Amino acid sequence: MTSPAPASALTQDELKAQVGRAALEYVVKGDIVGVGTGSTVNKFIDALATIKGDIRGAVSSSVASTERLRALGIPVFDSNEVEELAVYIDGADEIDGRGYMIKGGGAALTREKIVAAQSRRFVCIADASKLVNTLGAFPLPVEVIPMAARRVIRQFTRLGGLAQVREKDGAPLVTDNGQHIIDVTGLRIPDPLGFESEVNQWPGVVTVGVFAHQRASVCLLGTSTGVKTMRFS
Ligand code: 5RP
Repeated sequence: MTSPAPASALTQDELKAQVGRAALEYVVKGDIVGVGTGSTVNKFIDALATIKGDIRGAVSSSVASTERLRALGIPVFDSNEVEELAVYIDGADEIDGRGYMIKGGGAALTREKIVAAQSRRFVCIADASKLVNTLGAFPLPVEVIPMAARRVIRQFTRLGGLAQVREKDGAPLVTDNGQHIIDVTGLRIPDPLGFESEVNQWPGVVTVGVFAHQRASVCLLGTSTGVKTMRFS
């Protein structure tokens, strides 16, 4: 008989799987679930497939998540078909002790924010490396309309940041919405609410990857000693 691996031996992938499974506890039976994007959410989607008979389906935040959900037999609804969701489950690139997050490492930030905004509760699932004191070490993703990219980059330079257009295969990455992503390093964001409000009204910005107005209500943090639950509201 093989004995379970000691907790300290858990890989980041296993920590993600752990929180993906733990998030099932927040899924409301008979309901439609809001589903985010990324490698941690992929673990959640795999876990969700094991209880798919208990839910009506999902509202998805990206083409990638939609494909994974459908491949596993989970119906996907358009967000416009659903008025309100009980819960939205998604990962984060950074989360602080107040539930404020940086998101968008997977370029899905705008749709993620839309689904989060139509959900009563945001359950963030993340491994412990994502917990920070102050947001900003992770390059901040900002979705922009391509013709505004240079101007937005100059605005971030004035704030002390270093911004560049995200590329894929040698060309600007194109989001699910047909727009581009700017990644900004060198920022420190002690006031996420004010920062999000400010940047979101710059012309050409579709969404900034600070999730403060749509912060997490709960974070399930995968640690080597198990899942730690942080509640923010
Ligand atoms: C995608 C996101 C993801 O939630 C974020 O990048 C975390 O991803 P992962 O779970 O792969 O670390 O915001 O746009």
